[in-house]
Amino acid sequence: MTARIIDGKAFSAKVRAEVATGVAALKASHGITPGLAVVLVGEDPASQVYVRNKGKQTVEAGMASFEHKRDTSITEDELLALIDELNADPAVHGILCQLPLPTHIDEARVINAITPEKDVDGFHISNVGRIATGQDAMVPCTPLGCLMMLRDHHGSLSGMNAVVVGRSNIVGKPMAQLLLRDSCTVTIAHSRTTNLAEVCREADILVAAVGRPEMIPGDWVKPGATVIDVGINRLDNPPGSEKPTRLVGDVHFESAAAVAGAITPVPGGVGPMTIACLLANTLVSCCRANGADAPSGLTA
Ligand code: GUN
Repeated sequence: MTARIIDGKAFSAKVRAEVATGVAALKASHGITPGLAVVLVGEDPASQVYVRNKGKQTVEAGMASFEHKRDTSITEDELLALIDELNADPAVHGILCQLPLPTHIDEARVINAITPEKDVDGFHISNVGRIATGQDAMVPCTPLGCLMMLRDHHGSLSGMNAVVVGRSNIVGKPMAQLLLRDSCTVTIAHSRTTNLAEVCREADILVAAVGRPEMIPGDWVKPGATVIDVGINRLDNPPGSEKPTRLVGDVHFESAAAVAGAITPVPGGVGPMTIACLLANTLVSCCRANGADAPSGLTA
């Protein structure tokens, strides 16, 4: 069997087009432009690339983009004051504080200072609780993107056996909650799980979010399963290769694609969905703040 490739690049373009249509409709009906504020502390190169891409795609969707770059010398109080300013700014409907933050700043304190309605990352403790209890919430972007692709591929996920490998607050835990809400039977596995291979082999839906390059080989995949690879890892190529490095996921793509029913590639799978869902969350936040209906396909 050769798996169907789930094309996150094409899917994210569709989501972004839907967001752009929603933004244009909101401008026409309410005269409001959704605005996304991104806070970046320090010079981490990967974070700088993310933030640049976010800003570009925000503007392309017709939204306002506000970037707040600060030096690593910023104090926690100064950062909290900036968050307060953005909370109070009516032109800002979404606030994202790029992680990781420098170690002298308490990340949880900063995240929980964001008004939950503007927390387009879905990391605020109130949004975490609302997701866990089945209430309307801001849903973390990467798990939301995975869920959209799974629903698009399967229709209903009800009754499926889902295994999420990874227990991070950003991906693993919220992913498990969303799958549970869609009536999957959910297992959260991680690096300490005994018999991880056997646990993975039970999965109709296998979500890999551990951050270890090519850790999951094809013989851990149940024949016909859907594999969602959240990992983005950069590996060195052998000397003399055309490019010095390459991106790989947490799943060994070739061997898994030979067994799975469907699989997301790296790059071009989950990655592009994350920013598309950030734009979707910003639009949804703006709609809710102004009593307008949010496009139904863009929420969890
Ligand atoms: N750093 C890496 N991924 C993310 C994300 O999704 N949101 C934020 N705020 N920071 C990140």
